[in-house]
Amino acid sequence: MSRERLLVTSALPYANGPLHVGHAIGAYIPADVYVRYHRLKGNDVVFICGSDEHGTPITVTAEKEGIPPQAVVDKYHKAIKEAFKDLGISFDNYSRTTEGIHYKNSQEFFKKVMENGFVYKKTVERPYCPQCRRFLPDRFVKGICPYCNSEDQRGDQCEACGKQLEPHELKNAYCIICNGTPEQRETEHWFFKLSEFSHKLREWILCNKHWPDNARNFSLGWISEGLEDRAITRDLSWGVPVPLKGAEDKVLYVWFEAPIGYISSTQEWAEKKGNPGEWRKYWIEDCKIIHFIGKDNIPFHAIIWPAMLMAHSGFNLPWQVSSNEYLTLEGRKMSTSRGWVLWLHDILNEFDADLIRYYLLSINPAKHDSDFSLKEFQHKVNNELVAAFGNFINRSLTFIEKQGSMIPKVEDFDELDEQLLERIREAPEHVGRHIEEFRFLEALKELMSLAHFGNEYFQGKEPWRNENSTTLYLCANLTRTLAILSAPFLPHSAERIWGMLGLEGSVFDESWSRAAELDIRERHRIGRITLLYDKIDDKRIEGFDRRYLRKEKVVEKMDYVEFQDFEKLGLRVAEIKEVRDHPRADKLYLLQVDLGDEVRQLIAGIKESYSKEDLIGKQIIVATNLKPREIRGETSYGMLLAVDVEGKPVLLMPEKRVTSGSMIR
Ligand code: 2FM
Ligand code: ZN
Repeated sequence: MSRERLLVTSALPYANGPLHVGHAIGAYIPADVYVRYHRLKGNDVVFICGSDEHGTPITVTAEKEGIPPQAVVDKYHKAIKEAFKDLGISFDNYSRTTEGIHYKNSQEFFKKVMENGFVYKKTVERPYCPQCRRFLPDRFVKGICPYCNSEDQRGDQCEACGKQLEPHELKNAYCIICNGTPEQRETEHWFFKLSEFSHKLREWILCNKHWPDNARNFSLGWISEGLEDRAITRDLSWGVPVPLKGAEDKVLYVWFEAPIGYISSTQEWAEKKGNPGEWRKYWIEDCKIIHFIGKDNIPFHAIIWPAMLMAHSGFNLPWQVSSNEYLTLEGRKMSTSRGWVLWLHDILNEFDADLIRYYLLSINPAKHDSDFSLKEFQHKVNNELVAAFGNFINRSLTFIEKQGSMIPKVEDFDELDEQLLERIREAPEHVGRHIEEFRFLEALKELMSLAHFGNEYFQGKEPWRNENSTTLYLCANLTRTLAILSAPFLPHSAERIWGMLGLEGSVFDESWSRAAELDIRERHRIGRITLLYDKIDDKRIEGFDRRYLRKEKVVEKMDYVEFQDFEKLGLRVAEIKEVRDHPRADKLYLLQVDLGDEVRQLIAGIKESYSKEDLIGKQIIVATNLKPREIRGETSYGMLLAVDVEGKPVLLMPEKRVTSGSMIR
């Protein structure tokens, strides 16, 4: 079979705030599953994204925080990029729309569309705030939506009905900076002839039979209402300058240039690879372009962007627009302004990325809105991921380990063995088809059903009672199959399982179809077995809920404790003797600390704040009698004390050198 060529993009997030869990499942986790799957299939796939750093979302934040837009985007670009990395989103390139290459691209795109006759200049009336002495584009104005009459809608899009708006269309408009009433003033803008593309777009969408209903219905509906030409310039100073004389005080509309960022980011990727022309393979030669987006981005990706591409006529049109619906939080709409939001970095701080990926995929809002609930998160992780998937793998591998870690000789297959073999043979095809057709939840269910079957098999075979060599051989092979098939969904777990199986290299070097094979042979030696997942207990969920959702001030809530309780903590001074990286966790160190009478290992998440050299020889405070805790296969025998300063740890230390091991009283 020939290799398919795919360019996959996820919506470029605005760099005006951190990401929340709704963003994560909206346009990023499904895309990552899709991409990881296609890489394992051996297809030629490039995964592109970057921060969207222009437009009024950024300038409004800058104004409200009293800092320059550049400072806003620098801060959030870094934070967003880091959250993606922690979540395991495997972009081939993550760019920014403030890169020079993107300015050049957007300006050239604009000029080409103009040369092709699809851009014209017009004098129009726009809201102007006399108090602030400027025009009020997009999100600088709020008011009543002229279509559905919802109050307090932004000037670019109504959140209630999804309609694209222009600020001057709002009723009872007000300036969001000073609350003043804007007046209409004349200004010149450049317009894109969207209206000319109605017919072509309609034909094209009707041909795209593989599009999901939401994108299709929305677009066809909008076309039948009549597409109007759209202003693609704005009276702002932050943005890509309009490359024309007489337009020095104007920039390109963010939704005109941001999608061009997909192309710019691909070019940047090719340049970084040392093969600058390679981007053409994806945008000009034969290639399927697949956009993953959230529902509110449908009008731009299913109508405006394709029309822009048609007008430009040099690049491929999107092949698929996969758009998720919204995620609510504990039954309520998320709202950053009201503080009802679950930030991705907060949940990543507390729980392993794969648990979050698993839960979010299991409630993937593909067709309907769905709800994130911490209790359900706990329940699904414990009763599905841990009880079925983790349990099968750990019990099988621990059993093999107990018998000397060697895969035994294979005997004949009985009926139950044959059933298992059949499941292994057909699983890659079953899971894969769902992914290819964008049914991520169904794909995940197939995977879990295979793990369930593994448990039934293990239970049915009772290897602790009966002769067990074939059973263990097949369990090891099913574990390998599960590792490969889970890799798109649970990339960190898959890699760990691969290591536990004692297989070489990375699970991501395997091929999807080989998941159907029995590649673990007799006499193969498995690796060291560690617990794949811990169950999440009530306390952890409740604590997380209090700190991050209800955001209760922990200090006010604290109860008194007896002095004896304080003493129980066993707080002592320790000297750091050795610092190493945790082999399986990017942000953690393994410390060897001297307590005077013994040296112990601690695991500490302080890498961001301290280099190894900073730490050697320092005296710190350690709670010495906390129950040992295992984190990704390493054990921590105590916990160092630190203060959280804006999310970064600052270590507590004695004010002068003292004897190591001294008790704190
Ligand atoms: O809605 C958003 O967050 C936009 N920044 C998405 C842009 S996607 C693309 F077109 F750049
Ligand atoms: Zn104003």
